[in-house]
Amino acid sequence: MKAFNDLADFSTDEIRALIALAGRLDAHPEPDALKGKVLSLLFLSPSLRTLASFQAAMTRLGGGSFVISPEMSIHGIESRPGIVMDGAAAEHIREAIPVIASYGDAIGIRAFAERKNLEHDMAEVEFHAMTDLIDTPYINMESAMNHPCQSLADWKTLDDLAIPANGGKFVLSWAYHPKALPLAVPAATLHMAAHRGMDVTVLRPEGFELPDQLMKKAAAAAEAAGGSITETDDRTAAMQDAHVIYAKSWSSTRHYGGRLADQKLREEHLDWCVDEPWFDNAKDDCRFMHCLPVRRGVVVADNILDGPRSVVIAEARNRMLAQMAVLHQMLGGSR
Ligand code: CP
Repeated sequence: MKAFNDLADFSTDEIRALIALAGRLDAHPEPDALKGKVLSLLFLSPSLRTLASFQAAMTRLGGGSFVISPEMSIHGIESRPGIVMDGAAAEHIREAIPVIASYGDAIGIRAFAERKNLEHDMAEVEFHAMTDLIDTPYINMESAMNHPCQSLADWKTLDDLAIPANGGKFVLSWAYHPKALPLAVPAATLHMAAHRGMDVTVLRPEGFELPDQLMKKAAAAAEAAGGSITETDDRTAAMQDAHVIYAKSWSSTRHYGGRLADQKLREEHLDWCVDEPWFDNAKDDCRFMHCLPVRRGVVVADNILDGPRSVVIAEARNRMLAQMAVLHQMLGGSR
């Protein structure tokens, strides 16, 4: 495997093989599988789970890893092409990325969206500018519009819970959050559930529609897998017979990059906090999923997070197992 950048690059059989490998490595540890291998981890955006789970994954497979982030004593990093570097940053990604990559056998990169211009972010300009500089195998640890590691772990979590692929109803719901957040997780989650063959409903207020390009890509994946995609702002209709609700806040696509207009619109929807009444007409055992971090009492009520519906801790642990499978295949543990 040369790149783990988008779950859409993999067939259903390939994803199922990765998930089976993740389960096998959990049940039957292979502490020498990646002995002597090094994973470089570049975090240009913050993290708890991704950082810790990649380090744990490499350690459990017998390899090592190192982390570079702007919070460390690096020299300030510039990414704009053709810039005269007479400001604070003393290092350009054109040197930094190949240097960091050269110390490892694979590199993981996290760089969130700029969130100024939707087309720019949809094109993954910054992420490609970095991966184009290297030949080293790379892993997308969350870019402007994707989070494939989260999605692989979430697919495994759905399998672990025996939530049906075909015939399973998956509600991806916008939730209130005081800040305009990136589209990476909703984009990746939408595609994951569609690719798995589920009947997916995107539940969101007006002004928070996901970009047409993402909806079309997911619709094609759903059709190929025997599922479907619908979109609504009607909570009762969306939650009817749902097996799972996946909550996430994201930026207004109507006001993308417009901080004040986005804030004004989102503040009309302070009641979009998942709570027990949301589940009134869902399946009795309808589950609550979230990638974390999550704001208690804002995105979701405490009683949901602390109750039997919530599978957020299982999702987070599956991050480590799913990434162990990716690393095992990428770095030759499977040979
Ligand atoms: N879900 C997720 O990617 O968490 P972090 O941002 O903490 O890595």
